Parts: sequence; C-alpha cells; structure tokens
Amino acid sequence: MQTNVSALNGKLILVTGAARRIGKMLARAAARAGADVIIHYGTSKAQADETKEEIASLGRKAWMIQADLSKADEAANLIFQANKIGTLYALINNAAIFEPLTMQETKLSAWERHLAVNLTAPFLLSQAFAKQLSSSAPAALSSSSIIGRIVNILDWRALKPGADHFPYTISKAALAAMTKSLAVSLAPTISVNGLALGAILPPSGKPVSADFLKSIPAGRWSQPEELEEALIFLLAGPGYVTGEIIHLDGGRHLI
Ligand SMILES: NC(=O)c1ccc[n+]([C@@H]2O[C@H](COP(=O)([O-])OP(=O)(O)OC[C@H]3O[C@@H](n4cnc5c(N)ncnc54)[C@H](OP(=O)(O)O)[C@@H]3O)[C@@H](O)[C@H]2O)c1
Repeated sequence: MQTNVSALNGKLILVTGAARRIGKMLARAAARAGADVIIHYGTSKAQADETKEEIASLGRKAWMIQADLSKADEAANLIFQANKIGTLYALINNAAIFEPLTMQETKLSAWERHLAVNLTAPFLLSQAFAKQLSSSAPAALSSSSIIGRIVNILDWRALKPGADHFPYTISKAALAAMTKSLAVSLAPTISVNGLALGAILPPSGKPVSADFLKSIPAGRWSQPEELEEALIFLLAGPGYVTGEIIHLDGGRHLI
C-alpha cells in the first residue's frame, strides 16, 4: 500500500518522543501523509532538529517542543504549548522508557519512573487533548463525526504480560486498558486506538540474540513501510474503529 499523500492534509499532529527512532518514523509517516507535525522531545534536541529538517524537506511544517514527561506538570502543559501553534487533530503517545528489569530487580523508583512516562504522561496528554478540542470546537463536539484521534504506541507484551521488562510491561498493559477506557470516554468525537509493536528496531546499543527471529511467527523484522501504513490507517482510516489494538508484531503475541 502506498501512503495517501493527502490523507492528513492540513492536520496538526503531536508525536511524543519524535526526535529519534520509532517516534521519528511516526512523525515522518504523518508528514508524508500531509500532516504538519509537532515534534516533542525530552533530551535529544540535536536529533529533533534533524527530524524537523526532514519534515520541512517533505514540504510540511514542523515545530519542536521540549518536555520531560516524567514530570506530571510538564506532561500536562505540553498540549497547552502545542495549542500556541494550533488545534491538534491527533496525539501520538510514543515516548516511553524500556528497562530490562525483572520483578525482583524493580525498585520503587524504577516502577514510578516507568509509570510516570509510559502511563501517567499519556493520561495527562489525552485529557488535555480532549479538553483543547472541546474548547476549540464546541459545536463539533455535539455532532457524531470524528474531530480528533489518539494513537497509543503499545508493545506485544501489553496483551501478553510475562516476566521480562517487568515495570515496562505493566505500564504498557495499563496503557492498553486505558486505550479502551479512553475510547469509551471520548466517543463519539475522538477515536482512541493502540498500535502494539513487535520487532521494529533493536534496542539501541544492545545486541540481539542469533535465534531471536525464532520467537516471531513471521520470522523477520517489520519493514518501516508496515509501521507507516498501520499508523496512517489509525489516523486517517475509518473513524468507526475505536478502542482497537492492532498488533504489528508478525504474530509474536500469539505464541
Ligand atoms: N523498538 C521497538 O522495536 C519497539 C517494540 C515494541 C514497542 N515499542 C514502543 O515504541 C515506542 C518507541 O520505541 P523506541 O524503541 O523508539 O524507544 P527509544 O529508542 O527508547 O526512545 C524513547 C523515546 O521516548 C522519549 N522519552 C523517554 N523518556 C522521556 C521523558 N522522561 N521525557 C520525554 N521524552 C522521553 C525519548 O526522547 P528523548 O530522546 O528526546 O529524551 C525517545 O524519543 C515506545 O513506546 C516503545 O514501547 C518499540
């Protein structure tokens, strides 16, 4: 499938953690489909600059906003900052931390860190996102058409929690539950869906074991275009799809 280059024309989209890696891929995908993009970053300013340049080279507008999403006040304020640029059509909750901790190794500080970035920040962002739509387009809220979309980036582990990456997995499982609760809370004007990823990019700086692909029924890594197509479906496809979690994981959550 080719991305429809006008599917998101004129729409403003905020991607958290968009400076690098998957967040950058998502930001580029939205821009390729016609969106203007707000690149949120935490610490990766130089990479955010590069992402901004890439989006500009696609003929779309891009802005950068810094916020530490482990801090509730900064997370809550991010949509307010974004609204100085314009009214958002979509929020993509991508930023996350992923630490290889077992239950036994998980200290309270690590637990709280994972929940703050991976769950509390998406909650505060979603709440503020819904509020900006109700204050910017109150008339549209009384209709039954979709005026906003939220996509939560999940993990195959979210619906198949195991013992590895304990606080990360629990935070993503809770985010999957929140995706469904938000879909009901924000219907009929905002759709809320999850994209549960599998092997998209290896963790930075960590070697992947030789038999890793045996854990994936598809037997391979995802192609970047597959991530792009899945995202654009959730951003520009049927607004009647809400509370859905699409697995882009080659079947990994099934075995
Ligand atoms: N990689 C995969 O194959 C894979 C598989 C399954 C699920 N996922 C999901 O896909 C998403 C992206 O994965 P990734 O591999 O690209 O992650 P990553 O390389 O670890 O990048 C994490 C992103 O989150 C941001 N971030 C982390 N803590 C932050 C904080 N306190 N404040 C603000 N921003 C913060 C970082 O921003 P800065 O660098 O600017 O600080 C960075 O852009 C995550 O939700 C992850 O769970 C990825």
